[in-house]
Amino acid sequence: MKKSFLFQQSYVSVKQMVEVGQITKIFAVAEAMRQRVEERQVYEPLKGYSVAILFYQPSTRTFSSFSAAARRLGAYVTAIHGMQSLSSVSKGESLEDTIRTICQTTAADVIVLRHPDDASSERAAAVAAVPVINAGSGVAEHPTQALLDLYAIYQHQKRLDRLQVAMVGDLLYGRTIKSLAALLGLYKKNSLSLVAPEALRAPTAWLGSLPKSMSVQEYDDWEGVLPEVDVLYMTRVQKEWFEQAGRLAEYEQMKHKYVLTRHLTEQMKPSAMVMHPLPRVGEILPEVDSDPRAYYFKQMRLGLYIRMALLEMIMKP
Ligand code: NCD
Repeated sequence: MKKSFLFQQSYVSVKQMVEVGQITKIFAVAEAMRQRVEERQVYEPLKGYSVAILFYQPSTRTFSSFSAAARRLGAYVTAIHGMQSLSSVSKGESLEDTIRTICQTTAADVIVLRHPDDASSERAAAVAAVPVINAGSGVAEHPTQALLDLYAIYQHQKRLDRLQVAMVGDLLYGRTIKSLAALLGLYKKNSLSLVAPEALRAPTAWLGSLPKSMSVQEYDDWEGVLPEVDVLYMTRVQKEWFEQAGRLAEYEQMKHKYVLTRHLTEQMKPSAMVMHPLPRVGEILPEVDSDPRAYYFKQMRLGLYIRMALLEMIMKP
């Protein structure tokens, strides 16, 4: 049997996806997972395996879907939320020592990690005896979210090339957009409109890392962009990073610069989709939820299938 390209590999960055065939393969496994879940099939290829899930930052979707994914596949799951305050991290233990500890105490076959440091997943992978999956690292990456986002786009638009994608909001601190943009760059003729106030623009170094084949435009205003897009990817202005940087006053000024209303949604193409990694904190009004273009609730279910696919592909040959 040909081994999965992810077998016994860490998944710490979207940079590991170098050709679209890899993504197609993950989607095919995710699709099989979807079918099993919808049919309530019992499918437990990870029986006897151990999955450790460590979250140092808040989470609802990523944490619950990873836990559900591992349990559905039959694994023993140790899922710890609040690492920062409730574990020995609060006594000063290093990430490296915590990872070594968890490998020992849970006999983990894989570690899923969310952590505020940009390089956390790489640091963890360097000392872990088993693969590490990045469930969000600092302001840099959210590679499993990017796969589920891309999967959502594929489900709705039936293609992953020739797409006009607008990313709106906090492009400085938001990590989901960075991972998703990189994956979109693997496909042909996608164009990216980055909409943000001056202070929340995407980092220049990161912009420079995007494939040159992808057209990228920056905007301060979104009125002209909305009627053109196939995908409108909204994001939350990330209060926690402003707080840390002592910039709370600026956050208050910018938090509602872009608010999607029903009126604005109606200016979009009927075939367009509105996405959001969630949580939303005012940037999409609830009145948009019933619009057929609203995709953000369907989007998160796909996270369960993608994470099931990744866990199986990493642990089973
Ligand atoms: C995002 C994250 O943690 O980066 N949430 C998620 O995982 N769906 C987005 C956010 O917190 O704004």
